[in-house]
Amino acid sequence: MSAVLAEHIEYLTLPGRNALYRQAIGATLRPGDRVADLGCGVGVLGLFCLEAGASKVWGIDSSDAIHLAREVMDRAGYSDRYECIAGSTFRTVLPEQVDLIICDHVGFFGFDYGIIQLMRDARQRFLKPGGAMIPQALDLMVAGVSSDDCLAKADGWTRESVPEQYRWLDRLSRNVRYSYPYAAADLIAAPVALGHVDFAADEPDFYRFETVLTATRAGRFDGLAGWFDCRLAQDVRMTNNPLAPESIRRSQAFLPAEESFAVEAGDEIRVAVRFRADDPMISWTIQPPGGAKRQQMSTFNSTVLTPADLVKEPGRPLSLSHEGKARAFVLAQVDGQRSADAIADRVLAEWPDMFPSEQAVREFVKSVLAHHCAV
Ligand SMILES: C[S@@+](CC[C@H](N)C(=O)[O-])C[C@H]1O[C@@H](n2cnc3c(N)ncnc32)[C@H](O)[C@@H]1O
Repeated sequence: MSAVLAEHIEYLTLPGRNALYRQAIGATLRPGDRVADLGCGVGVLGLFCLEAGASKVWGIDSSDAIHLAREVMDRAGYSDRYECIAGSTFRTVLPEQVDLIICDHVGFFGFDYGIIQLMRDARQRFLKPGGAMIPQALDLMVAGVSSDDCLAKADGWTRESVPEQYRWLDRLSRNVRYSYPYAAADLIAAPVALGHVDFAADEPDFYRFETVLTATRAGRFDGLAGWFDCRLAQDVRMTNNPLAPESIRRSQAFLPAEESFAVEAGDEIRVAVRFRADDPMISWTIQPPGGAKRQQMSTFNSTVLTPADLVKEPGRPLSLSHEGKARAFVLAQVDGQRSADAIADRVLAEWPDMFPSEQAVREFVKSVLAHHCAV
């Protein structure tokens, strides 16, 4: 639970964020509206909706934060109008359609925390025709970076302190999306608009945005900075633009170049960013000036794939792993009559060496039952 507290205090204390959401809710929500708060965390956006006159909020979250949301609503006297759903929005079925869907799934680069698919799924399944959404759209911004700190993130595996056997990981670490709180001095090419994402529109699954950056000074070009300018409601915008005084100071994204290169003021650097709505993967290319080789990076190249990630031959017969068998065995004991203790006793009696100790077996049984039994 302490990780949940550490995470959510960050969201709740970002300068200006709560006020912008309250403003957007004020401009959007009508008294009596029904609301789905997607990834509600400790419930703060739903709380604002209730304060603004919502008649019902479903708060959905897949982390332990949902239990704090429940307690907060009890204490605030809203438990009759706020319903907590513990689990993924993608697996949630609501009892009725709502007037408003709301979330703050806005990542460092806007799209990079899965907001597109989250909103798309919720719009299609939870929202009444013509219902409202907060946020409504994202404008993505990109700039050039020259920063020792950022470079240190990308080439950390080459450092003296890293044992030699690990240095090869340098190749992978250029293909990672990092976060960084930029200052104006970290930028070597001025920000330009990269692309637009509209949550109300049926957009394709695949996004490819291209633009040209212009170096504002001579120096070393280390990669791309990315951030968002997000439309929460018609006249309410939220940004983490590091150059804007009204920034909510959420960090921005850093997408490294495979190899840093020198630029002169006025040089043009062509860049492209590609991503899918339904996948966390991001690919980016950077074309240095003067006809140098185009650099192609992708988080796919830093993804650790194991045999379990391989697509199995569809015709091949499958068998359960040890853990799979253990899970199936535990679930087979659930008959609508036995308690958790009785199930654990039975598992221990019939398969005592399922795991190395009685305690390990009891803990496994407890976690399987917690995940798969109705309460
Ligand atoms: C960025 S936090 C926002 C929390 C809160 N809405 C706020 O504005 O402060 C995102 C939350 O969404 C949850 N989450 C992420 N994806 C989810 C999903 N598909 N279904 C349910 N919860 C999700 C995470 O557990 C986390 O608590």
